[in-house]
Amino acid sequence: MPPNSQLAPHTPHPATRCSAPGKIILFGEHAVVYGRPALAVPVTQVQATATVTASPRPGIFIEAPDISLFSDLYSLPSDHPLAAVIQSVFSALNLPSPPGRGAGGEGLAIHISSTIPVASGLGSGAAASIAIIRALLAYIGHPLPDERISALAYEVEKLHHGTPSGIDNTVITFAKPVYFIKSQPIETLHVGAPFTIVIGDTDIASPTKESVGDVRKLWQAEPERFEKIFDAIGAIVNRARRAIENGEVSALGPLVDENHTLLREMTVSSPELDRLVETARRAGADGAKLSGGGRGGNMIALVKPENAEKISAALLKSGAQRTIITSVGTVERLNG
Ligand code: MEV
Repeated sequence: MPPNSQLAPHTPHPATRCSAPGKIILFGEHAVVYGRPALAVPVTQVQATATVTASPRPGIFIEAPDISLFSDLYSLPSDHPLAAVIQSVFSALNLPSPPGRGAGGEGLAIHISSTIPVASGLGSGAAASIAIIRALLAYIGHPLPDERISALAYEVEKLHHGTPSGIDNTVITFAKPVYFIKSQPIETLHVGAPFTIVIGDTDIASPTKESVGDVRKLWQAEPERFEKIFDAIGAIVNRARRAIENGEVSALGPLVDENHTLLREMTVSSPELDRLVETARRAGADGAKLSGGGRGGNMIALVKPENAEKISAALLKSGAQRTIITSVGTVERLNG
């Protein structure tokens, strides 16, 4: 362990700040929970940021104004995702649990802010975890490899999501397009030719835990039907991967549409998502689908770059609260 890896009392530490991007699932959500592959990309236009500073007061104080949370670490339940992520960093480094208020020694303040809408399929929970992990590791002076950071965030994802596949923490940690299969080593995706996505937000908060839980109940009731849907989605993902790697963007649109049809069969779409998907198609998108857990949150449209503004405007007119235009294949890494 490097010499500065202990939180030595009264040692002034410089503040550290780290950010993590949002993400979208291009293909394969839900089926990925059942071992099928999925494709996801980071969305750098939105991000979560964590800043760790020394505090004259001992203990760890958490400030997350976006969710109106201002609390001592130990005043939060231990399974609170923010408390869990902080504790996980200390145990990963074999450091003693951070002292509570009233103890001696240097304290920390962790400030978390985010431009990623919550419960919208853009990975807000995983991004906050990863920003906190990176900022704390930098503060303590003990970097960990991306695989470890992703694994720590995955443990916290279980608190957010119940039975997550791990795709959110993976794509956000590595901040690169990924081809992901649960419990398998990460495969980053080569993007043969860039393509443009418009993301439309229904502004309906929809916790992933609920839609994933509902799909599980439906799968338990009708395993054969659902296994067939998951297989069909897995096949779409593999075709999409080949098209993306070969730069065959024109092959992707119909695959996006087919994936949405299968997600509707799984009951995870909603009238609002379907409306935005239809709007995008009518405005000239090459394909459109919901993205993430569904029921609310975001949809995505695959568009020609010259049509992006027009399709974004059509989505806003049709009820989208906000849109993001993002180009896949030109994504840069955020964290230093
Ligand atoms: C959430 O971004 C994607 C889901 O497939 C859940 C998961 O993979 O954990 C719906």
